[in-house]
Amino acid sequence: MSITQQPRTGETLDVDRSDAAYRDWLKDAVRKVQADANRSADTHLLRFPLPEHWGIDLYLKDESTHPTGSLKHRLARSLFLYGLCNGWIRPDRPVIEASSGSTAVSEAYFAKLIGVPFVAVMPRTTSAEKIRLIEFHGGRCHFVDDPRGMYAESARLAAETGGHYMDQFTYAERATDWRGNNNIAESIFRQLELERYPEPAWIVATAGTGGTSATIARYVHYMQHDTRICVADPENSCFFEGWTTGDADVTCDCGSRIEGIGRPRMEPSFVPGAIDRMMKVPDAASVAAVRALEQAIGRKAGGSTGTGLWSALKIVAEMVAEGRQGSVVTLLCDPGDRYLDKYYSDAWLAQQGLDIAPYSAAIETLLATGVWPED
Ligand SMILES: Cc1ncc(COP(=O)(O)O)c(C=O)c1O
Repeated sequence: MSITQQPRTGETLDVDRSDAAYRDWLKDAVRKVQADANRSADTHLLRFPLPEHWGIDLYLKDESTHPTGSLKHRLARSLFLYGLCNGWIRPDRPVIEASSGSTAVSEAYFAKLIGVPFVAVMPRTTSAEKIRLIEFHGGRCHFVDDPRGMYAESARLAAETGGHYMDQFTYAERATDWRGNNNIAESIFRQLELERYPEPAWIVATAGTGGTSATIARYVHYMQHDTRICVADPENSCFFEGWTTGDADVTCDCGSRIEGIGRPRMEPSFVPGAIDRMMKVPDAASVAAVRALEQAIGRKAGGSTGTGLWSALKIVAEMVAEGRQGSVVTLLCDPGDRYLDKYYSDAWLAQQGLDIAPYSAAIETLLATGVWPED
């Protein structure tokens, strides 16, 4: 295509789209998002009790205490700031997101904060509590039967309404400031400063967009820490296979049972080269681990916390076997009260054909003896 608009000699073409009312709105919207962060406290780094003589400390970064109850609060804040500062989010235009739930809860909160409509495009299987929370924050839920159709449906709705498709799966890794700015990794390292092993041997994350693991891994490399990064992947997800085979086009047909993590494709925000290790965790093991967490620290959490905790416990067992001391960090991603009808329901387990008993026994044996019986 040739350029049709060319200046004549002596002429400068000049188009000024600046809009004072929009800029006032933008300033106020950015201020509101920043002020929300300014009013918020940091999330806790909890200890998971292990026998003292092992010389190993296991921590959970408790992301359930954000105002919207999950690690997605950080991501939603970053995505709103990115979308606002790029001029993508505009007054009165809807923000649309493809989400398995938690991101949508947090984004509905920020949309309400700056006064724009919000539509969540999500799988019909999303838990009732998450739907309630999105609607509580003023969002609208739009369901798809096939989780793989979420992306196209979100883009279609955005085009139809003149809104902005936030697209967390593409932008999570770049919207978050991975060099610091109190991101999740910087916060973990600061909170470990007075511990006996301030530089963790391993940090274990799980992947939905892949953004959290990318942020942690990049920060660790940037700060020249020796910490290794492990990503725990549930059943019915592509990240493990994509990472092990190097095939970025791998897909799978069935949606993940562990809400918030496990994707039918390798999401663009997942940064495989930054990750040291991956584990494929059986869903029954994720549930066993999250129930063991309640026994250990008296707190219920979502299934993805169990996926990460299972991998972290496996790493702890390795360290015990090798006589190695140090610390391991994993994430408490969101609270368990969102999933009482799933991971805390024996009827749901039976309906899914999940038997958690052998995995619960493995954790009990590890905590009692230091030996991981599975291997
Ligand atoms: C409950 C929960 N845990 C973990 C994750 C993984 O986070 P990320 O999207 O940064 O990979 C998500 C993401 O949706 C989530 O909802």
